[in-house]
Amino acid sequence: MSDIENMKAELLGAIDGAADLAAVEAIRVAALGKQGSVSGLLKTLGKMSPEERQAEGPKIHGLREAVTAALAARKDALEAAALEAKLAAETIDLSLPAPELPRGSVHPVSQVMDELAEIFADMGFAVATGPEIEDDWHNFTALNMPESHPARAMHDTFYFPDRDEAGREMVLRTHTSPVQIRTMLAEGAPVRIIAPGRVYRSDSDATHTPMFHQIEALVIDRDIHLGHLKWTLETFLKAFFERDDIVLRLRPSYFPFTEPSVEVDVGYANEGGRRVVGGSGDAPGHAWMEVLGSGMVNRRVVEAGGLDPDEWQGFAFGIGVDRLAMLKYGMDDLRAFFDGDVRWLSHYGFSALDVPTLSGGVGTPA
Ligand code: DAH
Repeated sequence: MSDIENMKAELLGAIDGAADLAAVEAIRVAALGKQGSVSGLLKTLGKMSPEERQAEGPKIHGLREAVTAALAARKDALEAAALEAKLAAETIDLSLPAPELPRGSVHPVSQVMDELAEIFADMGFAVATGPEIEDDWHNFTALNMPESHPARAMHDTFYFPDRDEAGREMVLRTHTSPVQIRTMLAEGAPVRIIAPGRVYRSDSDATHTPMFHQIEALVIDRDIHLGHLKWTLETFLKAFFERDDIVLRLRPSYFPFTEPSVEVDVGYANEGGRRVVGGSGDAPGHAWMEVLGSGMVNRRVVEAGGLDPDEWQGFAFGIGVDRLAMLKYGMDDLRAFFDGDVRWLSHYGFSALDVPTLSGGVGTPA
């Protein structure tokens, strides 16, 4: 075999054995690069006699073409194998059937919580959370309900058999108000939060379930007064019920954690066996209905939150979310909320695409 033939056999063998694209490239450079072996042979043509060139030229060009073609073929083969491996690793089964109908729905309680978060976010409130298993200091004492305070007895509390490491009694939180304390202690002032969540009381009938939902609001800043509270409630209730004719009645009341304390009623009328919120409760055919408890945060609660009550004041309120949902969407039995009956859920539930927004409406019924 001539030298050229040997070289060709060697190069083609190496190309065939190249394991990856980098190896193919290395061979290309070594053979066809400026300093490459095949390029070197091509350069010798210039110094040959015409006869020699006629004899050697076709062989050398043939070598270059064979090597070029072999490199291209090996590169294609390696790329195809890599694609094949990638496709095999990333398979998706396009034959899986799509569900005939959308399954599942958003529970009205979740929907109402999302509506509330949207409304309050627009007023600059952040969402805060706290544990459902709470200690009695956060749930009661820090909220100005020391042990033996009569208000504790009104909460029908679920107690745990064991205390925590600090010796505190543990409870299922009876309201979302402990999140007030946790937020002040963790973040200081000013504060502007809502805290939605589950709460628990040992109570059960058509309007009470042992687990229900509340949303707490807390605003702490300098020079906050009752007017701020009233404006906030009015703005929120108008947005929530999507009506401008909401009329509030503020009644003096008592909660240990607020001073003064205010219970808030809204006017409503009975229409077709359903309560429809709107108008003054004193108007003909109307009545008042209590919707929430509120007040100016008690100095002792501000102190328990680690803040100086001479510098920081605020208001708070707590609302039953389930009751708000019943009012807005017309359910009459609270227990059905938690039965998991598919017929109830598909009737009262919302589509996952019904995301409440202020621009699109916070409560488009399903
Ligand atoms: N925590 C009270 C309850 O569950 C509701 C409440 C009343 C919350 C007044 C407040 C408030 O923040 O100011 O009965």
